[in-house]
Amino acid sequence: MAVAFDSARWEALAAARTRGDVGDGIASVLALLGRTDVISFAGGFPAPETFPRERTATLMQEFAAGGELAAFQYAPTRGLTGPREAFAGRLERLQGRRPAEEELLITSGGIEALELLGKSFLDPRDVVVVEAPTYLGAIQSFRSFEATVAPVAFDEQGLDVDDLQRRLAAGLRPKLLYTIPDHQNPVGVSLTADRRAALVDLARSYGFLVIEDVAYRELGFDGDPPPSLWSIGPDVVLQAGTTSKTLFPGVRLGWAAGPREVVDRLIAAKQLTDQCAGALGQRLFEESERRGWIDDQLERSRALYRRKCERMLAALERSMPESAHWTTPRGGFFSWLTVAGVDTVELAGLAVEEGVAAVPGTLFFPDGRGADSLRLSFSLISEEKIDEGIARLGSLL
Ligand SMILES: Cc1ncc(COP(=O)(O)O)c(C=O)c1O
Repeated sequence: MAVAFDSARWEALAAARTRGDVGDGIASVLALLGRTDVISFAGGFPAPETFPRERTATLMQEFAAGGELAAFQYAPTRGLTGPREAFAGRLERLQGRRPAEEELLITSGGIEALELLGKSFLDPRDVVVVEAPTYLGAIQSFRSFEATVAPVAFDEQGLDVDDLQRRLAAGLRPKLLYTIPDHQNPVGVSLTADRRAALVDLARSYGFLVIEDVAYRELGFDGDPPPSLWSIGPDVVLQAGTTSKTLFPGVRLGWAAGPREVVDRLIAAKQLTDQCAGALGQRLFEESERRGWIDDQLERSRALYRRKCERMLAALERSMPESAHWTTPRGGFFSWLTVAGVDTVELAGLAVEEGVAAVPGTLFFPDGRGADSLRLSFSLISEEKIDEGIARLGSLL
């Protein structure tokens, strides 16, 4: 008798750790992107206006004309020498610390660093502390290794280090702590300098590794950000960075900088995922960085995102009811809207019918909280549609 390969059969064949919601959340956000009839504040995607199309074409022409080999070949797992120099030099210039040779790995984007950390450090039921709310992809990544994801409080100054200290004193013993200190996803606020220093001290006292996700660090609207956690505590911090929001995400590229013992393990793990980050993206980044094109692009990106953000905040001011409040981002892609007494899961469903999309807050908490909040992303949406989208949301509320 033949077995029926229906969904129940595939469910039975799937590994236990993949059952339940491991990847569905992000997939549903990505699915919204394909809908042209919806004004979307949903995905945390960079604006296409920022993509360096001509410059990328110029570089590709140069590679072809110059008989370039490296860009088309496999690369060492750590990354190609020139691109590694470019990343190290940029870190030194922007964060005041240059990673030693053994402290740096070129990754295939920020999410890969989380995957490699999970593979290298997490056994089932190990504890990973996250600020709540946090990046959905991080929650899902740690969960895919069957870790226990433990939330600590988060406020307008970032991760609540006092809450963390109390929890540690009461016996919480994480292996890893994951935080997004700059223009956080999903709330759009940054960790204060005092708290940064205190967090590094706690990592040293209690012996856990801090994962510092700097996906939005270079996208501040004004001035320099506070020191990175990695620059304060290179002995206890692994910084995961990405070029997805500063160059473009079509080449999956990023970096991991941290203690050499940690980076060694990530390199071993990477040999079993993709072996190396794509050489073409590495070389495009290297040449762009050398010519000052990354900084140039960033300057224009920051101005664009600032304009979009200000427009969205003005629209919120006009359209939202008294019971709503929202964060005022100074960089990044997101504002966090909270409306007391509203079920935003239901609201998000109704909103799609009205042609507007945003992500309900519950997706960003590991414990189902956040039903009164929505993440509003202003990065991808065209400027002209912001007012209309927020007005529709306002009238629904
Ligand atoms: C905080 C954060 N980290 C990492 C990522 C993923 O970056 P990458 O495209 O480099 O994998 C994102 C993307 O949305 C993000 O918001």
